[in-house]
Amino acid sequence: MRSAIGQPISRVDGPAKVRGQARYAGEFQPHGLVHAVLVTSTIVQGRIIAIDDSEALRVPGVMAVISHLNAPRLPWHIPEQRPVVDPKAGEPLHLFQGPEVHFNGQPVALVIAGTLEGATEAAARVQVSYAPANGVTMFDEASARPPHPDTASAGRPGTTSRGDADAALAQAAVRIDATYRQPREHHNAIEPHVTIAAWDGDHLTLYDKTQWVDNDRQEVAHALGISESQIRVISPFVGGAFGSALRTWPHVIAAAIAAREVRRPVRLELTRRQLYSGIGFRPRTEQRIALGADRDGRLQAVVHEATAQTARYEEYAETTVNTTTKAYACRNVRTAYRLADMNINSPCPMRAPGTVTGIFALETAMDELAVALNMDPLELRLRNFADHDQHQQHPWSSNELQACYRAAAEKFGWHRRPQQPGTLRHDGKQVGYGMAMTMYPANREAASASVSVFANGTALIRSAASDMGPGTYTSMTQVAAECLGLPVDKIGFELGDTDLPVAPVHGGSITMASVGNAVMAACRSVESRLIDLARAPGSGPFAGVKLADLVCRDGAVMRASGAVGEAVPYGELLRRCGLSKLDSESHAEPGEEEEQFSSSAFGAVFAEVHVDAGLGTIRVPRLVGAYDIGRVVNPKIARSQCIGGMVGGIGMALLEAAEWDARFGRVMNSNLAEYLVPVCADVGELDVTFVASDDRNFNPLGVKGVAEIAICGVAPAIGNAIYNATGRRLRDLPFTPARLLAG
Ligand code: MOS
Repeated sequence: MRSAIGQPISRVDGPAKVRGQARYAGEFQPHGLVHAVLVTSTIVQGRIIAIDDSEALRVPGVMAVISHLNAPRLPWHIPEQRPVVDPKAGEPLHLFQGPEVHFNGQPVALVIAGTLEGATEAAARVQVSYAPANGVTMFDEASARPPHPDTASAGRPGTTSRGDADAALAQAAVRIDATYRQPREHHNAIEPHVTIAAWDGDHLTLYDKTQWVDNDRQEVAHALGISESQIRVISPFVGGAFGSALRTWPHVIAAAIAAREVRRPVRLELTRRQLYSGIGFRPRTEQRIALGADRDGRLQAVVHEATAQTARYEEYAETTVNTTTKAYACRNVRTAYRLADMNINSPCPMRAPGTVTGIFALETAMDELAVALNMDPLELRLRNFADHDQHQQHPWSSNELQACYRAAAEKFGWHRRPQQPGTLRHDGKQVGYGMAMTMYPANREAASASVSVFANGTALIRSAASDMGPGTYTSMTQVAAECLGLPVDKIGFELGDTDLPVAPVHGGSITMASVGNAVMAACRSVESRLIDLARAPGSGPFAGVKLADLVCRDGAVMRASGAVGEAVPYGELLRRCGLSKLDSESHAEPGEEEEQFSSSAFGAVFAEVHVDAGLGTIRVPRLVGAYDIGRVVNPKIARSQCIGGMVGGIGMALLEAAEWDARFGRVMNSNLAEYLVPVCADVGELDVTFVASDDRNFNPLGVKGVAEIAICGVAPAIGNAIYNATGRRLRDLPFTPARLLAG
């Protein structure tokens, strides 16, 4: 039988999606569904002094207006062990529990009506009066402080150091020192955040847009002070999230409160504008990088200091500087990370949080160093290859970065790059070539999965995982098909439901390494039960045969010696034993390898840009990326992940920015017309290669994880290509025509 892993099959859920049969959270229709709309604050800091809902209540069909004046007081416990997706200091927003306002756009009331139109109209008529106070709406690096100790111990320390980077920098033969800025950016998934809450007695069902049903249930249970067993969360499809649905936002709990108050199922969807304050975003970050090298380009010193904005009520922090500690071989490395508290909603992970930002600065700085050395930027990176993780002092579990450099450089035609900037022209445009290294930590969490093998020869795999687009349904089906030796079309996969075996967060590119290994373990476990069944008296040709003499292969139990003609397919075995199905559930988790190795995905990205010197417009006719993502379960879907990441990278490089109005503490372009993201015309040729890799040191399946690796490195590759085209170094994202033409 042909191996299922490695086949470029199309998405198993594709037909349901294109036929509109895939049901997303907001599309469920519990009987008696009514609609809720949020009213949000218009000040950045202060207190609500009055809420006049008389006009709102006159709108036909309005059932209730909920605010801190009448909402039930909730315990809003914080779990002893905070969820990995939540900030470690401060407290999440406790909606409708008091009059305090912490940012502009904070939900302050909720209107429930029989129709969405009625609720929208009534929400506009709620009059809220405030006693405003002074808030912090300006990003001020000077006011920044180190992270709280709990944040630091969760992998975001204020400082790290090896050797003496500042002394080594002062003595280095060649150095660069520059500041890089990236604005606040928003996820802007097509599907908005939406929750449907339905109570049946004291049991709550939530249809929610989430990347983690199990945590959603836990957070809602803690906020409401009810038991997790009273809650079921259902989320079979997610229409893009990019990190915005990792944690449970206040509106989810608001929907649960509202449904209990009006005794009807309630649907609460954030408007596009509310998505800019009701959920998180990528925080604005400023970074200084200083690099020192000897004349041969060997790094002597690396200093990386980053400052990010965070909310005053809770402390979201990122791993912005972490990549720098291990990206290159260097004895002297110092990093610093600081936070500037502001009256803003809490930021949150977005598309390779921290890592993509840090790599933008580091890889632009490396290009600047190559210029200072008059050295090929690829050669500079090869000379500083880190053959082990110098920060953790571990060998890599696998590292094919050099193969990525070679593969991408060759496909791209890097040898044609002019070393002298501003010398290549095509069709009246300035042409430039740039490149960057990319890496993303490979992580793995405990996960479980169950397998049912049926008498009709099919199998069903279940795990409370999520699929926000990367293809979990498909890749897990392939893993099960491979392990069970059954055709892909005989396998079903169910996810997105707290009634299923526990799965970790669908984020950090960990799903394949986590859930994939659980699926593999569950398949192995059901196979051993099938062998036991085959050996049982009266079950057929293998009754009484020794355990060691039987194996499962190609969807059948057979003799290990491989004698043909005697194989009993699983379905037939079950029928002979009078069973309709056989189940097994297994758990898989990381082990000692975490203490022995550092694991990371790696890649190299090359960009060509065409710049119109008169208009300042920048085009990216092609990107070439080569990646080491471990074993590739499905090259078609993995490529799809990578081109998605590349498009996100083009957005970050050229377009994306929340325009901040510091007078009102509000994003001005909070809509898809003015917050720019790439459209088809902005995207040229995207070329993706996976280098041979199979990381069994990291996990039995040999995968590392794709997705976030692919957005990292794109913005610096494009910026470095712009330098090569024009001789202009851009250090502030996005690289707009105005910035290119300025000065
Ligand atoms: Mo990702 S930002 O961990 O969904």
